[in-house]
This record gives sequence, C-alpha cells and structure tokens, in this order.
Amino acid sequence: MAINKVKGTYDVLPTESYLWKALEDKIRSTLKVYNIKEIRTPIMEYSEVFHRQSELSDMVTKETYDFDDRGDRKLTLRPEGTAGVIRAYVENKLYATQELEKVYYIGPNFRYERPQKGRYRQFYQFGVEAIGAVDPALDAEMIILAYDFIKRLGLKGVRVRINSLGDDESRKFYQQALIDHFTPHESTLCEDCKARLSKNPLRILDCKVDQKHPAIKEAPIPQDFLNEFSKTYFQEVLEHLNASKIDYEIAHKLVRGLDYYSHTVFEIEADIEGFGAQNVLGGGGRYQKLVSELGGPDLGGIGFACGMERLLLALEAENVQLAKDTDLDAFVIAFGNEVKTTATKILYELRKADIIADMNYTQKAFKGQLKQALRLNAKFLIILGEEEFKRGVVGIKNTKTEVQEEVLISKIKKYLLEKLEKK
Ligand code: HAM
Repeated sequence: MAINKVKGTYDVLPTESYLWKALEDKIRSTLKVYNIKEIRTPIMEYSEVFHRQSELSDMVTKETYDFDDRGDRKLTLRPEGTAGVIRAYVENKLYATQELEKVYYIGPNFRYERPQKGRYRQFYQFGVEAIGAVDPALDAEMIILAYDFIKRLGLKGVRVRINSLGDDESRKFYQQALIDHFTPHESTLCEDCKARLSKNPLRILDCKVDQKHPAIKEAPIPQDFLNEFSKTYFQEVLEHLNASKIDYEIAHKLVRGLDYYSHTVFEIEADIEGFGAQNVLGGGGRYQKLVSELGGPDLGGIGFACGMERLLLALEAENVQLAKDTDLDAFVIAFGNEVKTTATKILYELRKADIIADMNYTQKAFKGQLKQALRLNAKFLIILGEEEFKRGVVGIKNTKTEVQEEVLISKIKKYLLEKLEKK
C-alpha cells in the first residue's frame, strides 16, 4: 500500500517549486538592500531552547514536536525561528564582535496545530532578528522592513497593526489588572484559562476556545498600564512610522501568541481576496529577556517572521505572478539509436553554453516527441532524423514563427545563441 504524507504537511511539486524559488529570491534581494545577512540554524534544538519557564504559550506547551534521541537527549523540532537564532547568537558570542547583529533566516518549523488552509504542521517562515540594541528607531526599522517586503511582493492594502506591552514594570501592572478583571469571571472561563489566570493572565486574551467570551472582549488594554518610559518609547516608534508614512493602526488588544514579548508588538496584514482572518502574513515584536534566559548578556532584540505558505497563497489569490517557470530554449527530437548518441552530444554542447535544453527518452515516434516539446514550451525544436544525420545537419524550427531552417550540426550552438540573443 502506498504511504501518504504526514497530516499537516505538503509536497512542493516540480510544477510549483519555481514559485518558492521566486519568493526566496525576493526575500534575499530585499534583505540585501537592508544590509542583513543570513543565518542558518539547526531544525532540532535541545528542548530547553524552547521550553523555558517563562514561555507558557500554547505553541510551546501544547504544540511542539518533542522526542528523545537514541542517546536519550531531549530534543525539539523548532516551532519558530527566534529562540534558535538567539541560542546561536549566545553560543557563538556574536555580541562580542558586533554591537547590533541583524540576521535573517528561511526554513521549516513544526507545530502540532489543527491543519487548515494556510496553517500546517510543517511550515516555512522567513524571519529577521535585530539583536543587541534597544532603540525605537530599530523597532521602526523592523516594522518598515516587514511592511516594505509585503509591498514589494505586489500585495495591496498592506497595513501594520501595532501595540505596546511596555517594559517589565508596565507588564506587571497590566497582568495584575487582568487578574483583577478575570477573577470574578473565573468559573465561566475555559479550563486552560482558569489555569492561566494565576500563571499567565495575558494568555487568556489569546484563548482559542472562546474568543467571544464577554470578559475577554471587555478586558483592560496594555496601553492604560504603560509607565512613562514605555509610553515615550512607544510614542517614538510611532513617530518613526509617521515620518516614513507607514500605514499603521494601533491595535489595543494585540498581545501576540508568544510570551517573550515586551514593548513593541506588531502584525502585518494585507487585503487578500477570500482570506478573512488569515490575512495576517507575519508578526513579531521586541524581546528583552530572551538573550539572558538563554545564557547570554542582558541584551534586547526585536524581530518578526512571515509564513511563506501564506505569502504564496496570498499571491495566488491576488493573481500576482512573481515569476514564470523557465521555458526550454531547445528540445531535441531524434530518431534511431545511432542518431541518439549525436543528440546526447548536441545537448551537452548546448548546456555548456547555458542554453536550456532537453530531449525525449521515452517516445520513439515524432508525434509523441513533438507533443512533449510543445508541453515544455520549447522555443526551438532541433529535429535530427536518419537522413539529416547522414548529411551532418539538423532542422531547427522556431515554434513561434514556425520557420524551419537547416543548420550544420557543428553550427547549432552558434545559431541558437544568436537567435536566443544569448552572448
Ligand atoms: P508567529 O506569529 O508564531 O511568530 O509566526 C509568524 C508567522 O508564521 C505567522 O504570522 C504566520 O504567517 C506563520 N505561521 C505560524 N504558524 C503557522 C502554521 N502552523 N502554518 C503556517 N504558517 C504559520 C513567530 O514565530 C515569532 N518567532 C516571530 C518573531 C520573530 N518575533 C520576534 N522575532
């Protein structure tokens, strides 16, 4: 019996992989302009990189793929990129050589979620982290970068939703306010939220069971609990966004789904046909404790990540074509075994000259071979029959103009380079 793919995963087939490549190219070319270099960290980490005492989000407590390896080490497939990047930043002491380290990453993550359109158990993110500085201008830069990237993709109605959770002190005030607010409603909260009430009341706002609960709707908002420093910090971030004319709105209830955030949190959305609430393409925020929690110095950072499947779905829904699949320059149609050796040689010559070329290996008849050539959108057909072979020539047909010319085998490369206007 054939074996199916794991639930929540998908195959990228050869007919669609060029779209992934085009998206990756766009990411890399954008990040180059922002002078940000790539970092590649492992997909698996020691579990404690993600399972930290302070991290009680669903993503980390309920959705990780944890396993013991054959040496009884506790490992976790990364559910997100940030913690692994910070582990690498600390382990490689990047803070010692660079005051501010800015990096980007592209790669798969794993979360045991309920699969649906735009939500998978293995999914790709591209993300950026700027570690080592606390400066509203840096928060703004990360937001502008995320916004700019989505705009560069050609999506419409790109907006930033932004909020501030404030510093430690502000968060403590806010947490107490949430405890005071939710305690009278405790009996009506879901089982998870009852437990969250004392340990991590912020997570109640993120409840996946009952988002319509009146107490959640009426909950206090972080902005009312920001101390002076946090208020000024947030104000300055907004001033930078104003100066750059970024389209943003303050989302008073935005707290995001991870516990490491303080100060700025944000999400990027766009108007996408038929997407509804799945129009959040990426999100991120500032983290002040993560570096020290992972054994590094007391340094803060800020970053964001975008779901790449979601980006591709958005591009498809909006009919934005980032790239076309590569068409063939030439397709060799050859008959007879004797001729085939020459066909192999011709192909090698053409490919050495970067002419994208192929031939048929399964069909013997002209008709079958032609069909394949046309399906592959070949610009030129190189027709090599017994009779042509004897005379040392081929017929080269332009599939668009239908003009066919006879060309010496030794001159095929030159002929095609001229016609294709390749040097
Ligand atoms: P996150 O909001 O958990 O943040 O994920 C970022 C993005 O990844 C989401 O906005 C969404 O587009 C995509 N995503 C998340 N889960 C899935 C899934 N199951 N299937 C498909 N796409 C998904 C983070 O991961 C943080 N590390 C972002 C960050 C970076 N914060 C600071 N630096």
